[in-house]
Amino acid sequence: MQFQWYPGHMTKTKREMQEDIKLIDLVIEVTDARIPMSSRNPDIDDLAKNKYRLILLNKADLADPKKTAAWSEYYKEKGFYVAELDARVNKGMKSIQDIILSACSEKIERDRKRGIKNRPIRAMVVGIPNVGKSTFINSFSGKASAKTGNKPGVTKGKQWIRMNKQVELLDTPGILWPKFEDQLVGLRLASVGSMNDEILNRDELAIEILKFLVKEYPGKVNARYGVEESDDIPELLMDIAKIRNCISKGGEIDYSKAAGLVIDEFRSGKICRFTMEIPED
Ligand code: G4P
Repeated sequence: MQFQWYPGHMTKTKREMQEDIKLIDLVIEVTDARIPMSSRNPDIDDLAKNKYRLILLNKADLADPKKTAAWSEYYKEKGFYVAELDARVNKGMKSIQDIILSACSEKIERDRKRGIKNRPIRAMVVGIPNVGKSTFINSFSGKASAKTGNKPGVTKGKQWIRMNKQVELLDTPGILWPKFEDQLVGLRLASVGSMNDEILNRDELAIEILKFLVKEYPGKVNARYGVEESDDIPELLMDIAKIRNCISKGGEIDYSKAAGLVIDEFRSGKICRFTMEIPED
């Protein structure tokens, strides 16, 4: 399957992000826990060097818990602070606050020694599209948040959301672009819905998703659709079309409708929780 991307306007975005990153202490990078590698852009390591780092494995409610735990360990070993998250749920946010303070403890201690009190940590949320950056900012800031307005030294137009005395968050997230050199990355982004569906062949995508499920999560397609799993994936999709009554006006089996159904139910977690990648080194 071929994918296209448009990195053209990303040069400007990258430049803006470089400027924003100068203003902050901590980079909060949101990733999709179902594809913790493909939903990152490794350029962030360069953009955010010398900053404290927190990786959020978001949408953990949809991911395979064992694999999420493995990813959490993997990134911790690489020196990141890590948290698993469902960004839609407010109650996990207190622990995020604690992790932010831990991640920046060195700076807090340095300030304290210099007699600087109450200088909040400044953080910025970054990530590729659709990983849940806005959802996280909204949940984390909650209703009590107030924008602090422009201050000297802050790029014009930048707004800081004051979480509490200790943390301020830049109100607009930095948008990273996915790294598309590898077709597999494209396929995984498409599978979880992090790519414009208009550029995809949805029939092919459904086949790839079913192939993945039969191999990695045997029994789940059977449990959801009552069809017998086999290596003949096009046939499997046909069986799903029949059993789910995907019939076109002319009375033919509507393969594309079944493909759409599989894609939607996969992405929304109705078939099973899944993770498409495992840590490699
Ligand atoms: P972005 O700013 O990074 O582009 O992502 P955004 O917050 O807009 O979130 C993209 C979609 O992912 C939204 O769904 C949002 O509700 C969903 N989402 C965010 N975090 C989580 C999470 O932890 N778990 C789950 N299951 N979903 C999450 P949407 O369908 O585009 O919008 P809506 O129908 O929820 O309004």
